[in-house]
Amino acid sequence: MAQQGSEAATIVIFGASGDLTQRKLLPALHSLNCEGLLDPRTRIIGVARSDLTIDEFRRQLYEGVTRYARLKPGMCALWPRFCESISYLSGAYDDPETYRRLARHLEERTQDQGHVGNVLFYLAVPPLLYPEVVAQIGAAGLNRRDDGWTRIIIEKPFGHDLASARELNRQVHAVFDERQVYRIDHYLGKETVQNILMFRFGNAIFEPLWNRNYVDHVQITMAETIGVGHRGGYFDSAGILRDMLQNHLLQLLALTAMEPPPLMTAKSLRDAKVQVLESLRPLDPAEGVWGQYEGYHSEPKVNPTSNTPTYVALKLHVDNWRWQGVPFYVRTGKALAAKSTEITLGFKQVPLHLFPESTELRPNSISLFIQPNEGIHLSFQAKAPGAGMKAEPVNMVFHFGADALPDAYERLLLDALNGDASLFMRSDEIELAWQVVEPLLGPVSPQPYPVGSEGPAEAEAFITRDSRSWHPMGDVHA
Ligand code: BG6
Repeated sequence: MAQQGSEAATIVIFGASGDLTQRKLLPALHSLNCEGLLDPRTRIIGVARSDLTIDEFRRQLYEGVTRYARLKPGMCALWPRFCESISYLSGAYDDPETYRRLARHLEERTQDQGHVGNVLFYLAVPPLLYPEVVAQIGAAGLNRRDDGWTRIIIEKPFGHDLASARELNRQVHAVFDERQVYRIDHYLGKETVQNILMFRFGNAIFEPLWNRNYVDHVQITMAETIGVGHRGGYFDSAGILRDMLQNHLLQLLALTAMEPPPLMTAKSLRDAKVQVLESLRPLDPAEGVWGQYEGYHSEPKVNPTSNTPTYVALKLHVDNWRWQGVPFYVRTGKALAAKSTEITLGFKQVPLHLFPESTELRPNSISLFIQPNEGIHLSFQAKAPGAGMKAEPVNMVFHFGADALPDAYERLLLDALNGDASLFMRSDEIELAWQVVEPLLGPVSPQPYPVGSEGPAEAEAFITRDSRSWHPMGDVHA
C-alpha cells in the first residue's frame, strides 16, 4: 500500500465515452501523471460504442479533467503530452471483431511503449454487459500474456443479489484467475477510510477500549443531500440497500469491527474483514426502518408507484467475542439534511455518578468523520470553569489540512497498476456481503420523509426505544 509510482502498463477502458471515464477515471489518471506517479510509458485505450474521432474523444476527456480533476490542466502543464498517450477504438461489445481490432491495437501500443506487456482492463460499462465483455476478452485470448501481467478492474454493482454475484464470479473466473481481478468499492480508496486502519492500529491508546467492555454501541451514518437525479432508472431497480449498504456501508462496518490483521497485506486485511462479515447475525427486517423521500415518484425514469427505499436504518449485531451485545446502528439515505459519512463509537456511562450538579454526564464518544470535514473528534467531560463541579462536554479535534485529498480513484488505479489488491473486494467477501443483505431484499413499504430531513420519524423512535439517540447528522460540533 506504499505510495510509489506505477508500473508501466496499457490501460484499456471499456465504456470510455461514459460518465465514469469522464468524471473519475481520466481526472484521476491525469492527477497521478501530474504528480509523477504514473509511469511515462503508460498508454490508455478507450473502447466504446460511440462513433467518435480521436479528437472528439480527447476533447470530451479534457472537459472532464478540467471540471473534475484534483489537479486541473492549468495547474499542471502535462495534459497535452499526456493526451497523446490516449487512443480510441469504437465497436460493439458483443462483436468479436472489436476484440480482434483491440488485440492488434494493443500490440501497436505495446511496441510504441517499448514492449511493456502489462495490460489493465477497466470495466466501466453498464453491469449487464460485464459477462459479455469478460467472455469476449477471454475468447480473443486477451486475458493472459507471456510478456507481462493482465488484470481487470470491475466496477460496482457486482451482482444484484447473492445468486447473481455468484454467477458473475463464476463467469469472471472462467476467464481470469482471482489474483487478476480487482473489484472496486471506491469508499476503500478514500483517505479517511484508510485512516480508520491507521487510527485503530497505529495507536496504542484506542484499541484497548475498542470492544464490548467499553463501547456501548456503534453508529454509522452515510447521508447524502442529493436525490437520485438522472440515475432514477438504475436506482429504482437497485434501491438503497444495493446502492450503499451491501458495499460501502458494510465495508466501513468491517473496517471498524475487524480484528487487527497480522500484516498489512491484501490477504490479511481481507481475511479480517471476511471474519466480520461471517460474524454478522442474519439481518432481521423487523430491526429496520425504510423510507422514501417525498417527490421520489416524480424523478425521471422512476416508476410512479415505486416502493423502492431511498433510506434505511438498521440495527446489526456482530456475533463474536469482541462485539457481543454491542449494537451497530447504521443508516443511509438520499435527499437528507446533510452530506455526511461518519462513524461514532458511543462509550458506556461512568460506573458511579459523582457530580450532582450535572444531572447527566454525556457518555464519551469517538467520531470518525469520513467526509466532508474529514477528521476525528473525541468527546469527553471537562469541568465548567467557576465555582462548583459542573460537567461540560468538550471535543478534542483533529482535521485533515486544507489541501484537497487525493480522489479515491487515484489511489485505486495506482494500487491496481502495482498489483496491490488490499483495497479491492475479494470474491468471498462480496458474496458474504450479499448474503448479509439478502433477507432484506424483498418488497418493503417505505415511509415517506421530507427532502432535507433526517429521514422518516420512525428512525428516531427506532433508536430511542433502545434509550440511545442518533449523533446529529453532519454536525461536526456535536
Ligand atoms: C455510489 C452510489 O456508489 O456512491 C451513489 O451509487 C452515491 O448513489 C455515491 O451517491 C456516493 O459516493 P461519494 O463518494 O459521493 O460519497
